[in-house]
Amino acid sequence: MQKIIITGGAGFIGSHVVRRFVKTYPNYNIINLDKLTYAGNLENLRDIENEPNYRFIKGDIVDLEFINSLFDNEKPDAVIHLAAESHVDRSISSPLEFVMTNVVGTVNLLNAARQSWKGRYDQTRFYHVSTDEVYGTLGEDGMFTEETAYDPHSPYSASKASSDHFVRAYQDTYGMDAVISNCSNNYGSFHFPEKLIPLAIHNIKQNKPVPVYGKGENIRDWLWVEDHARAIDVIFHNAKAGQTYNIGGHNEWKNIDLINLLCTILDKKLGREVGESARLITYVTDRAGHDLRYAIDATKLKNELGWVPSITFEEGLEKTVDWYLANEEWLTNVTSGSYQQYYKGQYNNR
Ligand code: NAD
Ligand code: DAU
Repeated sequence: MQKIIITGGAGFIGSHVVRRFVKTYPNYNIINLDKLTYAGNLENLRDIENEPNYRFIKGDIVDLEFINSLFDNEKPDAVIHLAAESHVDRSISSPLEFVMTNVVGTVNLLNAARQSWKGRYDQTRFYHVSTDEVYGTLGEDGMFTEETAYDPHSPYSASKASSDHFVRAYQDTYGMDAVISNCSNNYGSFHFPEKLIPLAIHNIKQNKPVPVYGKGENIRDWLWVEDHARAIDVIFHNAKAGQTYNIGGHNEWKNIDLINLLCTILDKKLGREVGESARLITYVTDRAGHDLRYAIDATKLKNELGWVPSITFEEGLEKTVDWYLANEEWLTNVTSGSYQQYYKGQYNNR
């Protein structure tokens, strides 16, 4: 029986990965290790919380003693590491938290794994979930491949780039089995509403201004979160040690076009006049150091491991909007308390 620690399993992507592994592999023992920061929410996993192959452990990956004793007690066979501070805007106001969790936390896990797995590196695996933002920004043409040089611009992407380098260093120096994937922007259910898509859905629904940074011309490459979770499953089980895979949906959207599409979908679903929601679009001060364009070339993953996205963006976005409209209580719970403070600070009381 494989015992896998999934870090950050109470967050957006982590909860989809945990659900997929718990349901698909009843013979695996899945431990969800999460600190439950503002972004972590056990409500994301209500449907599987009583499954016999699932356990939740609350803990901080920055706490070295805790991480060492966790490995001593649990003796896991693998780690799938998603825990991170993940929001670029927060990294601009509080970079140190990103260094602590994303860099120090990752190195703590690597160290504990290195000690605990000595003598059986060939039977263990450290899977590091990273981002396309480590590659920096693109102009009008081109795509990020696995060979693109790292060129991070935000404190968030710099911290993720650093953690990727540490993972490779542990593979190269100690011979540990490590794999990394770098994925583009995800969307779907349980996405915390500080990020563009859920924030826009929430604001449109509430008839509040929809903040668009700069001129709305920045481009992101969107992937349905359940397709990311499936890619992680495929890579975890099939990649050779030391490999890196880019994951993406071949689905580039200018922010303003995406927001207009969401407005159209919501006009229909909320029974509004055509164009009513789009009146909420409000251009606000641009993000500092705002990367212009991301685009992922996921050819390696397709050719070597056979992964391709399962649904179109239009289908995925509609499903996502339906989920947010049907899960008002989840949205109300996560947007109460500290979210209000954050929102006021970020958008100048709008
Ligand atoms: P998220 O912010 O929704 O969730 C992060 C989770 O990590 C939360 O549950 C939080 O409680 C937990 N966490 C934070 N600090 C912790 C600590 N010190 N110890 C233990 N747990 C801690 O993030 P997400 O969007 O689900 O992203 C998950 C991972 O995927 C991150 O590593 C991120 O860099 C990467 N990623 C995200 C995207 C995206 O579009 N969201 C795309 C590519 C890669
Ligand atoms: O590319 C992968 C990355 O995608 C992940 O590594 C990050 O964890 C994840 O947060 C995401 O980063 P982005 O910065 O691209 O996502 P965000 O949803 O914050 O912003 C998407 C785009 O929308 C970006 O160009 C900034 C813009 N934006 C964002 C917000 C929150 C706005 O115009 N208005 C907003 O209010």
